[in-house]
Amino acid sequence: MERLDKRLASTGRWSRREVKELVRQGRVLVNGMPARRPEDKVGEEDQLLVDGQEVNCAPFVYVMMHKPAGLLSATEDRNQKTVVDLLPEELKRRGLFPVGRLDKDTTGLLLLTDDGALAHDLLSPKKHVDKVYLAKVEGRVDSTDVSALAQGMVLGDGLHCLPAGLEPLEDGSSCLVTLREGKYHQVKRMLAARGKPVLALKRLSMGLLRLDEKLQPGQWRYLEMDEVAKLREEGRNT
Ligand code: URA
Repeated sequence: MERLDKRLASTGRWSRREVKELVRQGRVLVNGMPARRPEDKVGEEDQLLVDGQEVNCAPFVYVMMHKPAGLLSATEDRNQKTVVDLLPEELKRRGLFPVGRLDKDTTGLLLLTDDGALAHDLLSPKKHVDKVYLAKVEGRVDSTDVSALAQGMVLGDGLHCLPAGLEPLEDGSSCLVTLREGKYHQVKRMLAARGKPVLALKRLSMGLLRLDEKLQPGQWRYLEMDEVAKLREEGRNT
């Protein structure tokens, strides 16, 4: 058992002072009943709701961001703004980091968490968590490009890529690329090697986690509990 204010503050979403205020305003329910005092004790199995929404009190925090162009996928940088700069102070304090990197000009789905083990699993090629990108290219991708990516390309500098999916869209000037790994500039390098340089790149999904279309570039939200459960399940696969 631990104090209600400590448990809610441990999510990083509210400070203890803010929890006190939420409790005073009757916005916190414990097992369906309004919490009376911030110092009340709660156990693992108690259900906590704030403003009608169940709060995930697991020791880790998971955030989905629609990464805008122009920000670095890093926790901090001396000279440039990073995706973490878009998060509020309490999440910065928790030390959230991006799971894998998107290039500065790449947009789309970025997961941020402080759960190092899950991040490792999601990025490991052994775990088969597909990442899907929407690429706009110069020229048009065709069936020869589809075969080349499906076989696994070897790039000019000798970099071996695992077999990847390529699905031309519309007239071939856009395509979906599915990777199981995340090597530096991988999509851009593979398509450039096919003579189809990438003009714009957006990540749409990581495994079962899809970019929430309601999020505008630069916006973020907490993952729902079922989204976290799905990611954990996928990370476990080998
Ligand atoms: N591949 C790239 O080339 N860039 C990204 O940002 C992600 C995948």
